[in-house]
Amino acid sequence: MPVKNAKETNFLSGKYEVIDPKFGGEYNRVELDLGCGKGGFSLEVAKRNPDTIVLAADIKASRLQKINNKAALMKISNLETIRVMAWDLIAYQLPNDCLDRVHILCPDPWPKFKHKGHRLVTSEFLGAVTRVLKNGGILHLSTDDRPYVAWMKEAISGLSQYIPFEEGIDDVKDIETEFERHYVEVGKGVVHMTFKLSK
Ligand SMILES: C[S@@+](CC[C@H](N)C(=O)[O-])C[C@H]1O[C@@H](n2cnc3c(N)ncnc32)[C@H](O)[C@@H]1O
Repeated sequence: MPVKNAKETNFLSGKYEVIDPKFGGEYNRVELDLGCGKGGFSLEVAKRNPDTIVLAADIKASRLQKINNKAALMKISNLETIRVMAWDLIAYQLPNDCLDRVHILCPDPWPKFKHKGHRLVTSEFLGAVTRVLKNGGILHLSTDDRPYVAWMKEAISGLSQYIPFEEGIDDVKDIETEFERHYVEVGKGVVHMTFKLSK
């Protein structure tokens, strides 16, 4: 099975390739910020946790490049940007049981009824996440979109391995993503949901 080093690849391949989440370094923990956007959350988590590698994953290469630049300026070396499609990463690019925590924060809400099929968080997707999340690992979801809150709750309700666990984000709940900051500024607020995986 090939092992890719994301420092060299930063890829969007659509092929069967496995990403080594530790990238040759010895880190105690691995966290994934899926759909990281401008990456403020990833950078802050990496800064606070030097023993953890933070994977900042998005489809937009330009955003990832800016995150790399900021990480260099901030002298953060435990953050890796990876250009991927979320489903590819979760379904086959990451190895089994490699993540301690997965953050899916303010994913695109696709509010129009006819676009609901584009939503990332579904029971199928959260089921696929159980392969890469370690036993006892944390799933952290958020959205500003109230119908998406109900949709997320419905999606996870049939997956009994996920147990509500608010304390799972105690150390990061003060960190706002760029989208969250915007929603808070316009008075909308964001709902967070946190679960512990029991395999
Ligand atoms: C609404 S933004 C939220 C960004 C960030 N999490 C925040 O809260 O500020 C959604 C992000 O997900 C990314 N995205 C959308 N679909 C994706 C996919 N299939 N795979 C990976 N990233 C995706 C977009 O490029 C965008 O940066």
